[in-house]
Amino acid sequence: MSAQRLDGKACASQVEAELLDRITHLTERGTQPHLAVVIVGDDPASHVYVNSKINTCKRLGIRSTHIALPSDTDEASLRQHILALNEADDVHGILVQSPLPAHMDEEGLTDLIHPDKDVDGFHPQNLGRLVQGRTDGMLPCTPSGVMRMLRWAGVDLKGKRAVVLGRSRIVGMPAALLLAAKGADATVTVVHSRTHDAAAVCREADVVVAAVGRPDMVKADWIKPGAVVVDVGINRVDDATRERGWRLAGDVDPAVSEVAEWLSPVPGGVGPMTIAMLMENTVRAAEQALDR
Ligand code: GUN
Repeated sequence: MSAQRLDGKACASQVEAELLDRITHLTERGTQPHLAVVIVGDDPASHVYVNSKINTCKRLGIRSTHIALPSDTDEASLRQHILALNEADDVHGILVQSPLPAHMDEEGLTDLIHPDKDVDGFHPQNLGRLVQGRTDGMLPCTPSGVMRMLRWAGVDLKGKRAVVLGRSRIVGMPAALLLAAKGADATVTVVHSRTHDAAAVCREADVVVAAVGRPDMVKADWIKPGAVVVDVGINRVDDATRERGWRLAGDVDPAVSEVAEWLSPVPGGVGPMTIAMLMENTVRAAEQALDR
């Protein structure tokens, strides 16, 4: 039997519909939410992601400013852009697309973003709040999108065993914290590159969140029958049968669908949810700026 589809696109549409009301309300109060997106270099996948973010802003009536800088931009100049956006009263959210070129200190630069405008939720102040169990602040978009999608599908996490594959700052670690937080109440294990027998650890899990960036890594025999599997991977793999020469693959082998109860597709799963959560953070930043 095939797993039910954790349809991120449908869930994101619902989130967007709710946001439209909040955006209308803000506009009536004289404020248009405004997101600034900064991208450095010419990584094609990053440009695709940034363009989707900008297009979603347009669709929802969120103003956007797109700053694209060449790959040889020096750190001081990016720093100046961030500081100027921090100062701009009409900018509510700032996002610096990751990865930055190797010559830049990505963490140091994103730490410069004012925490109130940190719609990515990567600032130590926002991540620190999450570690403290305060889940009402700016939360990282991909993990909060995963949680929203699970709630939307009616997946009860209380007391369940969850395994997060990957320990990144952007996805794995914040996802583990959100799954373990009060209200979600899962028992969480983080699997990473030094874990012994990741397959055996995954087989114990009721919920698996795969965020490692390795195509088709999670196989059907890693998954307990009836488990919920969320695929965060978006990997480009060569495929000569496609006109463009590549296709997208998740971190989860599609054969997992024969074992799992729920599985998120790639594309159309976590990707649209990440963008929806970014929009929600931007709207929230605008609301908070108005109320401050
Ligand atoms: N690169 C991949 N995912 C993300 C994200 O959520 N935010 C930023 N800024 N860069 C990314």
